[in-house]
Amino acid sequence: MGLVWNQRGSRNETNTKEGLPISTGAVVPKKRWSNLMPLFVALVVIAEIAFLGRLDMAKNAAMVADLFYRSRVAVAAVEGDDMGLDMVVGDPNLESESCEKWLEREDAVTYSRDFAKEPIFVSGGDQEWKSCSVGCKFGFGGDKRPDAAFGLPQHGGTASVLRSMESAQYYFENDISVARRKGYNIVMTTSLSSDVPVGYFSWAEYDLMAPVMPKTEKALAAAFISNCGARNFRLQALEALEKLKIPIDSYGGCHRNRDGRVDKVEALKRYKFSLAFENSNEEDYVTEKFFQSLVAGTIPVVVGAPNILDFAPSPGSVLHIKELEDAESVAKTMRYLAENPKAYNESLRWKYEGPSDSFKALVDMAAVHSSCRLCIHLATINRDKEEKSPSFKKRPCKCTRGSETVYHIYVRERGRFEMESIYLRSSNLTLEALKSAAALKFKSLNHEPVWKPERPEKLRWGNELKVHKIYPVGLTQREALFTFNFNGDADFRTHLESNPCAKFEVIFV
Ligand SMILES: *[C@@H]1O[C@H](CO)[C@@H](O)[C@H](O)[C@H]1NC(C)=O
Ligand SMILES: *[C@@H]1O[C@H](CO)[C@@H](O)[C@H](O)[C@H]1NC(C)=O
Repeated sequence: MGLVWNQRGSRNETNTKEGLPISTGAVVPKKRWSNLMPLFVALVVIAEIAFLGRLDMAKNAAMVADLFYRSRVAVAAVEGDDMGLDMVVGDPNLESESCEKWLEREDAVTYSRDFAKEPIFVSGGDQEWKSCSVGCKFGFGGDKRPDAAFGLPQHGGTASVLRSMESAQYYFENDISVARRKGYNIVMTTSLSSDVPVGYFSWAEYDLMAPVMPKTEKALAAAFISNCGARNFRLQALEALEKLKIPIDSYGGCHRNRDGRVDKVEALKRYKFSLAFENSNEEDYVTEKFFQSLVAGTIPVVVGAPNILDFAPSPGSVLHIKELEDAESVAKTMRYLAENPKAYNESLRWKYEGPSDSFKALVDMAAVHSSCRLCIHLATINRDKEEKSPSFKKRPCKCTRGSETVYHIYVRERGRFEMESIYLRSSNLTLEALKSAAALKFKSLNHEPVWKPERPEKLRWGNELKVHKIYPVGLTQREALFTFNFNGDADFRTHLESNPCAKFEVIFV
């Protein structure tokens, strides 16, 4: 069987935006040559085959692809209009070579920038992120144009980056759409929908699996609220709980009734509940108030992010005053739990048995420093752009033999940069097959998950790689962790057809 290439030799494929070399065929007078066309095409094809047969293609893939492209453009030019060519190329080695081998070679186009030699350079700070999976340098000056810089505006292709951990309700430009309108290319905020989220959470910063201590205080809850003013109802919520006769020890400036000069986390450990009241109710804006409560093994009662349950270590481990009216039912639950040790203990079960996969996957994101994640983001954009160039568009990305087609797919772990190849067959083109092929691939590489050195000892398991999520590269973390799912195998297949050499990111837990 031959391989069928359905490649459009269109002159429109040239790519000027990325400043890549363009190989346009000379404009040749049209109709005069048309009679010779079939012969010409045949000659070009034969020449290509002969030429390819003699080359070490793995090494010269880029050059070959370019040559290929050029000859086809020439053909199209001779032909006249932007006429597609359906080429049938017989590969003499087909009998002995698998589709996988063939694709591995044919799809291996070399990128023009080697990030090991020419790292991503960000203006600001002064640090080289040695452990980052892509070359990543922060610094000032130098003669090299930076890939990105903090602040507005940037010139000459330097991306401008907004980085802030403040709530958009106090710093309006932290709202993603406001930041984009102002001209920021890359937004780094607590929002999981931002380009490179910067959270308050990490395994390194919080000893989340610290043991639960006896609840020795008489008051049910502790509060550390520095000031009563806020752009949400946290003061009203505090007053509502007080009115409902929930005994509260307040260490902060707001309604203080205890001496505030204590170690916050140590103090929290002695209480059954902690009032984790943020100063704004913004999606994904979850600060140390919440994570310190988890460390302390006290149940957080939250006023803050409307989606706080996305941050819960397990179902039933967090109480949420979503609206002021909820204060009454939350007070009731607090009282019930306080009087029922078994039920109370159940809410802290994650402390003994480990948090949910969803929680681990969230906190694991921070196992890679946000500066490194910024570099990976920039390098990925760089490669995506380059993949629009002619030599990349020439990659076959799939290979058909008889009734079966083999698809070339790329996967990487979230937090890492380089891609690995996997192959799926049309007879088994399912999401399950994708997951298991990805897990198998990384197992065969003895891959160590990026979070391994960060996670607490008891959450590291053995060497098993369990796929939690697998999603197209380029999605936000909100989509990746919470909202994105292929709509079944058919949707996945459609994605593969419209994204040749599709790239995926996998989250292991
Ligand atoms: C809470 O439950 C865990 C097991 O989930 C158990 O080891 C622990 O002793 C219990 N603590 C109390 C105070 O009941
Ligand atoms: C399809 O692929 C999955 C994962 O690789 C594998 O477990 C399963 O056995 C395959 N099914 C068939 C019919 O090949």
